[in-house]
Amino acid sequence: MTAPRKLFIKTYGCQMNVYDSERMAEALGASGYVPTDTAADADMILLNTCHIREKAAEKVYSELGRLKPLKDGNPDLKIGIAGCVAQAEGAEIMRRAPVVDLVVGPQTYHRLPAMEAAARAGERPVDTDFPDEDKFEHLPKGPRAVRGVSAFLTVQEGCDKFCAFCVVPYTRGAEVSRPAERILREARDLVERGVREVTLLGQNVNGYHGEGLDGRDWSLARLVRELAEIDGLWRIRYTTSHPNDMSDDLIAAHGDLDKLMPYLHLPVQSGSDKILKAMNRKHTAAEYLEILDRLREVRPDLALSGDFIVGFPGEGEAEFEATMELVRKAGYHSAFSFKYSARPGTPAAERPVLPDAVLDVRLHELQALITEQQRAAQQAMVGREVQVLFEKPGRMPGQMVGKSDYLHAVHATGEGIAPGQLRRVRITESATNSLAAVLL
Ligand code: SAH
Ligand code: SF4
Ligand code: F3S
Repeated sequence: MTAPRKLFIKTYGCQMNVYDSERMAEALGASGYVPTDTAADADMILLNTCHIREKAAEKVYSELGRLKPLKDGNPDLKIGIAGCVAQAEGAEIMRRAPVVDLVVGPQTYHRLPAMEAAARAGERPVDTDFPDEDKFEHLPKGPRAVRGVSAFLTVQEGCDKFCAFCVVPYTRGAEVSRPAERILREARDLVERGVREVTLLGQNVNGYHGEGLDGRDWSLARLVRELAEIDGLWRIRYTTSHPNDMSDDLIAAHGDLDKLMPYLHLPVQSGSDKILKAMNRKHTAAEYLEILDRLREVRPDLALSGDFIVGFPGEGEAEFEATMELVRKAGYHSAFSFKYSARPGTPAAERPVLPDAVLDVRLHELQALITEQQRAAQQAMVGREVQVLFEKPGRMPGQMVGKSDYLHAVHATGEGIAPGQLRRVRITESATNSLAAVLL
């Protein structure tokens, strides 16, 4: 018997790519591949790429440069490009990078086994279709992977919002929601394999409107309510949301579903109405803050997270100051901020850009404010009792790390503590990226 072939996947970008990488590993598992953590061992290397900012896309080409010597040493090694760069510039990758053997977009990786076989036969297949079939339903059934206690579950893909800066509507296509029945089936299967927390994923997850069990359109709130009925599933999260899809029923669900965690990633990008309009976000800063008020009315302890872009074309000092002001008013537990990156093919790419030095200064200023808020929010946890779902051993002997309801990383030591346990703890200390706790 020949040894199984080894697959190494490197994942860039968002959680959706993390989820897709797991599915691709399962798809190729059916072709006899087993995962490896070292590229040097691999018979197949897949880069699951991100196209969101210029830097993210460039990483692919530098990584290919690093992988070339491996291929020179092992002619049987196949290299594939998956994900959003594959979708956006598949043909160009094939031209620019002769080391690449196959290119597969985010909507067709269920076809990977056939593509892998074609690559082994000396072809260089490229598949960046947006097929009608649901790739999740067409994935070959490989061996059931062992799961941790927390898992991602894709419920919706693609985006129809067309923010002026963003490539996602082009790389992931139009919004498609999976039928509730399949999502519930997948959730039950995860729970059977020991999963206790699911994070529902979608580029625009709260825009979910899939076919419900009753044949009608279900909203995300309706879906979450049904998921909350599953015994053994303790926690539900969802990401990423758009403010305009924060419906009344979803806000209400935050108030009356214990299993829906008090944490929300709700990007706003800018605090200036002028810039929000130029970004095609279709809401104002005041409307965003009002949504937060309503959420906090039903869930006062909600931990808020967000995304910001600094230096969008047309952003002057006043517009940037409006963003700082919004951050002060909103109060974030954490937030991500990025320098605007012009992406080919998006409407904003045609507009004049600001000097990079200006972007650097603004990013620095915004990040300082966000860090200050984050530190204060973490510090405020000290002395509080919270629930932690423990996931894996920590770095110290006997230590276990997990996540609080608010998604803080928490570590604790104690008698009988093990992965998969949901335990009450008291927070004793706040460090930069985690909290220390004692079991109660
Ligand atoms: N669907 C999600 C986020 C997708 S991308 C949403 O709508 O919130 C993740 C984040 O990357 C965005 O929220 C935005 O802050 C940032 N981003 C997207 N395009 C960008 C660009 N061209 N330049 C800089 N940051 C960008
Ligand atoms: Fe991109 Fe906007 Fe869609 Fe988010 S909502 S994926 S930022 S176009
Ligand atoms: Fe990147 Fe594609 Fe996700 S561009 S952020 S990997 S949807």
